[in-house]
Amino acid sequence: MKEQILSRLPLDFPWKDQLHWFASIDSTNDHLRALAKAGAPEGTVIIADHQTGGHGRRGRSFHSPAGSGIYLSLLIRPDCPPDALMHLTCAVAVAMCDAIEAAAGFRPGIKWTNDLVFGQRKLGGILTEIGFNAKGHVDWAILGIGINCCQKTEDFPEDIRHMAGSLAMIASQPIDRARVAASMVESLHTMSRKLLPDKAELLRRYREDCITLNRDVVLVRGEEKRYGHALDIDESGALIVRFSDGTVEPVNSGEISVRGMYGYV
Ligand code: BTN
Repeated sequence: MKEQILSRLPLDFPWKDQLHWFASIDSTNDHLRALAKAGAPEGTVIIADHQTGGHGRRGRSFHSPAGSGIYLSLLIRPDCPPDALMHLTCAVAVAMCDAIEAAAGFRPGIKWTNDLVFGQRKLGGILTEIGFNAKGHVDWAILGIGINCCQKTEDFPEDIRHMAGSLAMIASQPIDRARVAASMVESLHTMSRKLLPDKAELLRRYREDCITLNRDVVLVRGEEKRYGHALDIDESGALIVRFSDGTVEPVNSGEISVRGMYGYV
């Protein structure tokens, strides 16, 4: 598989020598975090066929069976203050829409902030992690992405079957996982060089792909549920919501559900 991925990257692709393939691993993010702390260079990429402990935000597990998806983590070492990375997950999400469009022939949407979706189904997710040095500057950032490629509905565990989808369930062309992986790596490279430094362009593109905007939403924080309408994304990547009591607030934390998706009616 590693050779197939490399053969689908441009000959002069700069991160080719730092790409590592695993048939099975606990979590590509966890493995790469250890490498990052040990000094691995920017552009180190870990891709696995199977994860035994793949995880997402809020400690949730990410179903990562063999032969089905691409589980990938990339290490970057951006030379910038932490504030400049507030919108990192947004940049990765737009880059993954580009990658899927190139490899599968359709463009998914983004459910704020880090779900890749099509229709009412989640195709994949993003988990970014940032480490700081003793001075409080960014030392490393890990961009972890899981994309369901080849599953059929019945392949997903029962509890997520109603909301999980794969590229193969939507695309009208066969899915070549090596091509998906190569597209992901290429898009992430372009993102780190062009999109991440251009905040205005990044937000413009994120707003275009974000399906949460102009939809009814519910914000869940612990036991509390607040209903509202998603208006915009601000400079930091926060979702601007007008709540039912008329207040307009940026939302940075908590779980946002979009009406009409994942069982919220
Ligand atoms: C989410 O849906 O909340 C994010 C899921 C992120 C999963 C990817 S798979 C590759 C990388 N390794 C992990 O353990 N998590 C990310």
